[in-house]
Amino acid sequence: MMKKKIAIFISGRGSNMQAIVEQCQRGPLKDLAQVELVFANKASAAGLEYAKSQGLETRCINSKGLKRLDFDAKVIDLLSNYELDFIILAGYMRVLSSPFVQAYQGRIINIHPADTSLHQGLHAYEWAYENQLAATKITVHFVDEGMDTGAVIAQASVDLKGVESLQDVEKRGLAVEHQFYSATLKSLFEA
Ligand code: GAR
Repeated sequence: MMKKKIAIFISGRGSNMQAIVEQCQRGPLKDLAQVELVFANKASAAGLEYAKSQGLETRCINSKGLKRLDFDAKVIDLLSNYELDFIILAGYMRVLSSPFVQAYQGRIINIHPADTSLHQGLHAYEWAYENQLAATKITVHFVDEGMDTGAVIAQASVDLKGVESLQDVEKRGLAVEHQFYSATLKSLFEA
């Protein structure tokens, strides 16, 4: 089977991107996916440094001050230089415009650190912590034009019993995210 060619989109730290890169190098995605590009909408995105250190191609277009459609047009233009099977959003904090979603219909995936039917947008771990949830969910879903509204691919539960701080919630959640995102992509790419 041909490896799926993927671009990973980030806006900041990039720990999910790092986990996916590692799993492509020597984990469950090894024979299934190849990272063609790591893209950020901010030059300050810390994850870009890691991606470069791994010899990966990185690109950045600053979204600040640009209208959504204008920015996305630039990104679509950039992506036309690549043959991509999937776009993997990993902490990419932007809603995608209709032209973008339509250009890659059914091939854009996101991870959201909550059950998307209960919480959308930013601060999902804060939401779980403040509501004292005994468990929360991580959702991997297809991306549509809405904010965290696309069809759910898979969800994983995070046990929050006994957490004492928001940092505890994030730590437990991210540990699940880093395994679960690649495991879900593996199933998708194998199908
Ligand atoms: C992750 O927790 C990811 O699930 C979340 O942002 C964090 C990014 O961390 N995404 C969203 O909230 C999307 N609505 P990372 O840059 O270290 O992967």
